[in-house]
Amino acid sequence: MDFLTLAKERYSCRKLTDRPVSEEQIRAILEAGLAAPTACNYQPFKIWVMTSDEALAKVKASCRQQFIQPCPVVFVIGGDTSRAWVRDYDGKNFADVDASIIAAHMMLEIQDQGLATTWIGHFDPKKLGDTFPDMQGYSLIAMFAAGYAADDAVPAEPHTKCRPEEELIQRY
Ligand SMILES: Cc1cc2nc3c(=O)[nH]c(=O)nc-3n(C[C@H](O)[C@H](O)[C@H](O)COP(=O)(O)O)c2cc1C
Repeated sequence: MDFLTLAKERYSCRKLTDRPVSEEQIRAILEAGLAAPTACNYQPFKIWVMTSDEALAKVKASCRQQFIQPCPVVFVIGGDTSRAWVRDYDGKNFADVDASIIAAHMMLEIQDQGLATTWIGHFDPKKLGDTFPDMQGYSLIAMFAAGYAADDAVPAEPHTKCRPEEELIQRY
């Protein structure tokens, strides 16, 4: 599948199954993340992978998104502001930008693996850090519950809502 078709076919899938995903699929998703560029190549990020029942139950308990389970794997991505490039003009720290590029690569590789996911930003990072202490100190920007889509999964209504292109793109 060409990239544009893949990007357009992706939608936020909130109905997954517990059908297992293979270690090869998980590895490909991680490699897609690791292949992403970061500012100055500082690689200021960390990826957490949850596959055990215990870890999946803990993630679900610290997150109100009910569609997170059943699913065979959850990824959490965090930026490390202490390692990231800081732009000297305005002091902007690029940890979240770098981590978001990693996350976008992973999200699209999940799709390319024939799996489905939703980028989840609506979780309490403090609660997650209390549950998984090694996440403390990271800027947690994305959680992906990933797996095979349920047969009756469909895109939610916002998927088709697009602001007019002339508001979003300026050509000179
Ligand atoms: C940074 C970010 C955070 C998001 N957080 C959530 C979330 O917490 N829960 C959720 O159901 N969807 C979340 N989404 C999914 C968006 O709601 C969704 O991408 C948008 O409505 C467009 O729909 P589509 O992905 O199906 O095209 C998030 C998406 C992004 C990019």
